[in-house]
Amino acid sequence: MSQPSPCAGMVDLHHHLLPGVDDGAADLAAAVALARLAVAEGITTVVATPHTLDGVYDVARPAAAAALAELAAALAAAGLVLDVRLAAEVHLHESIPALLQAEPAITLDGRGRYLLLELPHQGPPPSLPEFLFRLAAAGTTPVIAHPERNLAVRKNPAMATEWARAGSKLQLTAGSLSGMFGAPIRACAERLLRDRAAHVVATDAHSPERRPPRVCDAFAAAAAIVGEQGARTLFVDNPALVLAGASPDTIESPPAQPRRGLFAALFR
Ligand SMILES: [Fe+2]
Repeated sequence: MSQPSPCAGMVDLHHHLLPGVDDGAADLAAAVALARLAVAEGITTVVATPHTLDGVYDVARPAAAAALAELAAALAAAGLVLDVRLAAEVHLHESIPALLQAEPAITLDGRGRYLLLELPHQGPPPSLPEFLFRLAAAGTTPVIAHPERNLAVRKNPAMATEWARAGSKLQLTAGSLSGMFGAPIRACAERLLRDRAAHVVATDAHSPERRPPRVCDAFAAAAAIVGEQGARTLFVDNPALVLAGASPDTIESPPAQPRRGLFAALFR
């Protein structure tokens, strides 16, 4: 009998699962394959987060809802039990406050409390801290997508730690922890874990072949830093709190565990 997944019951808050709407699942077959892989990893809920306002993709809600309906029917026909919700990954844009007013359902909890926010890849504008503050003051906590993949954060991880200290939540991508994107991105993700700046891990899956929703190896990598319970907090408990729209105060970054054995001796 196979071992149960350490991520059993995981809510994946960042996943480009919807068929044919952005650079995620190319078609229905790819979406079903992604869902099958997610279920095998122990994921029970996926929040589909199509790109919005990113300059290439701006997936409209009706198109996303239609794709979700098509996918739900295909999953049922395939006998796959996966709860798929609909939100969005929203690129940093001045129109976000107006968008939230008009369509709070694009948020991760569906009620306007947590927004999955994508930053410009090279680095954020100087006005970002003020923007994050204004968003939070209006009742929406930013969940910043994969800061470890951002060039400016890799040069200065303290920048992201400061966003977390000021109240934003940080989402690491599982593939960053498992080395899918290379050593510098893995090192930055580990640094954010050690600095207690990371709150949730999600897959940001795009395709069954190139960007699959693998989490078990990333869970082990996180557990080496924050312990098994800390990894459960990042992969399972905190994402469930975000989905439920729980108070931001309840979503904490787990503490790093003290290094043991040989490493403890080396780093003392
Ligand atoms: Fe994404």
